[in-house]
Amino acid sequence: MKIAVIGSNMVDLITYIDQMPKEGETIEAPEFEIGCGGKGANQAVAAAKLGANVMMLTKVGDDLFGQNTINNFKNIGIDTQYVKVINNVSSGVAPIFVDKNSQNRILIIKGANNYLLPQDIIDAKDSLSQCNLIILQLEVPLETVYAAIDFAVTHGIEVILNPAPAIKNLDISYACKCDFFIPNETELEILTNISINSEEAIYKAGKLLLDKGLKNLIITLGHQGSIWMTKDKIHHIDPIKVNAIDTSGAGDAFIGCFASEYIKNHDIIKALNKASAYSAASVTRKGTQRSYLDSIQFNEFLSSLSLGE
Ligand code: RIB
Ligand code: NA
Repeated sequence: MKIAVIGSNMVDLITYIDQMPKEGETIEAPEFEIGCGGKGANQAVAAAKLGANVMMLTKVGDDLFGQNTINNFKNIGIDTQYVKVINNVSSGVAPIFVDKNSQNRILIIKGANNYLLPQDIIDAKDSLSQCNLIILQLEVPLETVYAAIDFAVTHGIEVILNPAPAIKNLDISYACKCDFFIPNETELEILTNISINSEEAIYKAGKLLLDKGLKNLIITLGHQGSIWMTKDKIHHIDPIKVNAIDTSGAGDAFIGCFASEYIKNHDIIKALNKASAYSAASVTRKGTQRSYLDSIQFNEFLSSLSLGE
């Protein structure tokens, strides 16, 4: 079983802040961390740390960060044959601000990620067609995302589309070709134009998308768990209560874990419960990828939960 992630990588520049500076103001922040990130890379790393066989299609710049990102993938055992360096372009970077309530604000400068093109899918077609699952996000050109979906459909490969970051102009007909569509509440709101302020609003927005032909809609709700909706059923996944210190990358942890579990035996509910626990564990630790547990650590975390600790 092999997973391909076709998507972004970034270097996360995480500043932990007490407050944001006002215009013209200089203030001190208590802490800073640098780490590998990017939604695509995060999802690939989460899945690989949990033991999945993962290949990554992405582009880095020819700067200090590019080779570091490639080495990071290699250290985790991710297949980097299709991680390419683009000359005279910066790697993707993401200044992130995490506040005292553990909430994050993220800016992305996509850099080399803008150069991941449909041709790259054609170039990797032999390896890609061997994969069982393709995971996509929206930090690379939309035409590439659409080309990947068409490739997956042609080759009978399952697809997870995480429509992040939120955009208004996603062609829902492409989302409908995917097996799983996994937005958070902000992304759901922007896609449907329905303000997500209640459980009813979630169902309404969900139904609107499902009526257009979406197969499996999974809405991640942070500390409120997640909801899996299909045309004829709604299933709630309870949240796992933890002491959150940094929520950045939690959604990616959820998707990477869901993917690695799902491909084992296609048990959606089991995969959702594990994903919920895995992302909960990630918010108790600082950083994005560096907060992800490996499978041994995750099993320890799961047994601590069942002991009611
Ligand atoms: O989802 C979190 C990620 O979003 C960060 O790692 C950052 O790089 C941005 O892509
Ligand atoms: Na984290």
